[in-house]
Amino acid sequence: MFEPRTTIIRDPKVLTFDYIPATLVHREEQMRSLRMLFRPVVESGVPQSAFLIGPVGTGKTATAKRFCMDVLRYSSEKGIPMDYVMVNCRQSNTESSALLSMIWHFDPGYPDRGFSVSEMLRTLKRHVDKRRLRLIVVLDEVDVLLKKGADDLVYQLSRFNEERGDLSTSLSLMMISQEHVIDRLDQASMSTFKRANTVRFGRYSRDELYDIVNSRADMALVPGSIEADSMHLISDIASEWGDARFAIEMLEKSALLAEEDGVGQVKAEYVREAKALTYSTITESKLEQLDKHRMLTLLSVTRCLKEEAYVNTGRAEKTYHVVAEEYGESPRKHTQFWNYVNDLHDLGLVHTKVQGDPEGGRTTYISIPDMPAKVLRGKLEEMLDR
Ligand SMILES: Nc1ncnc2c1ncn2[C@@H]1O[C@H](COP(=O)(O)OP(=O)(O)O)[C@@H](O)[C@H]1O
Ligand SMILES: [Mg+2]
Repeated sequence: MFEPRTTIIRDPKVLTFDYIPATLVHREEQMRSLRMLFRPVVESGVPQSAFLIGPVGTGKTATAKRFCMDVLRYSSEKGIPMDYVMVNCRQSNTESSALLSMIWHFDPGYPDRGFSVSEMLRTLKRHVDKRRLRLIVVLDEVDVLLKKGADDLVYQLSRFNEERGDLSTSLSLMMISQEHVIDRLDQASMSTFKRANTVRFGRYSRDELYDIVNSRADMALVPGSIEADSMHLISDIASEWGDARFAIEMLEKSALLAEEDGVGQVKAEYVREAKALTYSTITESKLEQLDKHRMLTLLSVTRCLKEEAYVNTGRAEKTYHVVAEEYGESPRKHTQFWNYVNDLHDLGLVHTKVQGDPEGGRTTYISIPDMPAKVLRGKLEEMLDR
């Protein structure tokens, strides 16, 4: 029933979620900025901190990981004691669980309860000092942690190196986020993060996505087993969000579908089928990231969109008030509502466009790309009822 088929996929590993290619096309500039920023750490142990900012699927996590892996290889060749630890703050979303995952990197047997945050910080320090390390801590999706009020941990980590003249050991921070989180940090930690240390990741263009898909297909698939047009179609579809993850998932799914059919080539029809499959899993994982008020905001948009393609923000906001009350929440203020809409836009869950009106004002219109509003509405109501 599951006889291996090898007509299309040569190396399935290359299509998986955590595969990190040796080089990331179209991220040369970001890599260069990171090299520049972290050169002092490698050369003399002087700690640095950087923000990596950009929308979903723009290669932030992959670039950070590739960079750290390259640094590690270089430093071990040169005999410099460096290491990095990557924490996903969506999974480890409290100060203690984030710290735990750092400590477990050094001591997998460390008990997961019973120690305070300051005790854990001291333990982390001891591990770094004992190995005389220059450690890079990557806080991926740090906005989740900061939204939960964990600025103190970030502050403590940022001043990890104070009160010591010895630079042979240090802790550097790399913080990854979809929006600029610096505004959420308190005054004290703010001063330790210079604005200049921001590395920006923009949405990929259609052509850039094509190059990404093409190079992934080269590594993963049997030569000649995907039509160029299929790759064009994948990049066309994904370019709406500039999201490489979406593109690679479509590549994987369309290859699997074609292989399952025993066809020797990934044709456009498989891409269309893969799009339908991928879109719903991606949307679902995005919906799971939303807190209650962002869900309520999105729900209000779906409630406004019955026949029409667009709803203006004024009407959406009124509906949001009704919907919030329906779910027993007091509606947030106007500026906060705007933030929610912007966040939903950054996640690609809504589109927004600004239009001038006859009175000379400007109105923002919201639409939902590519999924029936009714389906999304049902999904949200189901999640909110849970
Ligand atoms: N420039 C690139 N070249 C090759 N693969 C890429 C590139 N950018 C992103 N990817 C791949 O796309 C997917 C999403 O990237 P990821 O780094 O997780 O995005 P982000 O962290 O910004 O949401 C990953 O599988 C990653 O390997
Ligand atoms: Mg990421």
